Amino acid sequence: MTEIGSDLLYAASLLRRGGLVAIPTETVYGLAGNALDADAVLKIYRVKDRPQFNPLIVHLANIDAMAKYAEVPAIAYRLAERFSPGPITYVLPKKTVVPDITTGGGETVALRIPAHAMALELLALLDFPLAAPSANPSGYISPVTAEHVQQGLGGKIAYILDGGQCSVGLESTVIAFATNKIIVLRAGGVTVEALREFAPVEVRTHAAPGAGSPGLLKSHYAPKTRLIVGNLRSLLEEYAAQKVAVLSLWELMRGENIVACEVLSPSSDLTEAARNLFAALRRLDAAGAELIVAERMPEHGFGLAINDRLDRAAA
Ligand code: TXA
Ligand code: MG
Repeated sequence: MTEIGSDLLYAASLLRRGGLVAIPTETVYGLAGNALDADAVLKIYRVKDRPQFNPLIVHLANIDAMAKYAEVPAIAYRLAERFSPGPITYVLPKKTVVPDITTGGGETVALRIPAHAMALELLALLDFPLAAPSANPSGYISPVTAEHVQQGLGGKIAYILDGGQCSVGLESTVIAFATNKIIVLRAGGVTVEALREFAPVEVRTHAAPGAGSPGLLKSHYAPKTRLIVGNLRSLLEEYAAQKVAVLSLWELMRGENIVACEVLSPSSDLTEAARNLFAALRRLDAAGAELIVAERMPEHGFGLAINDRLDRAAA
């Protein structure tokens, strides 16, 4: 089994030796390694069983570090002043110090400053940035507790830093820049509404193959149980003959064929719903149902990111 603890110095020493450590962030747990060390980064792809064309996010201790690894336009600094540290990732032209394997062979690098005290303390101890995808086997539900990481990657990594349950619960919003606009490649912890205050926003996450983030092209975030998204009442009627597990925004659903029901937020608060989403999906996946039926969220605020994860889980 992999050890779980809160020893930052030990974590730092493992990382300096080219090892991998799972780290807490405000969004989801990350599987971290030295972003400038091609061998460490290769281990990340192997442990996750992730295709090497799917680039990794490079995590930094502060905004000032961004210019070491990328060409940073003025708009990125304006956004960073407001949202970083926080659940937003900037895709920018990379500098040569970043190895090709870290960026999946591409000419851009994704940079993020996580808003989690432990992650920031760890980054401050190191003289290199941390490449960190979500700390789950490729394709499965992202981890929001140290125990989730243990369940998915236990035995494959030396250490899990336990920073408690992730406060946002959904991955960062991944953005790129075009002339006079922000392009959202993955909906996440910073809403499109908040970005619109800075520049016009184009959302590409649901677009045709070739658009969006490379990692978002196929099925992702998927439980093992088949999942269907839509209007809860219609779905429950349609699948009345099957043993179902229900993911509901606010209403507790009961019925003879309902083996489990998770309510994401009794007050329909989409921020709270996002925080509870991945843990709820894991419990539903373990409920022994033939099918998970999930309620489609309203398409505003965090609803956009939740629906994106549900659609991919259903793909
Ligand atoms: O909240 C998060 O972003 C978490 C925590 C650990 O920071 N990390 C995370 O990493 O979700 P990952 O690897 O699971 O998802 C990163 C996404 C992928 O869809 C990847 O394709 C995209 O970001 N991405 C990374 N670098 C990119 C680049 N240069 N261009 C376009 N998309 C990129
Ligand atoms: Mg991921």
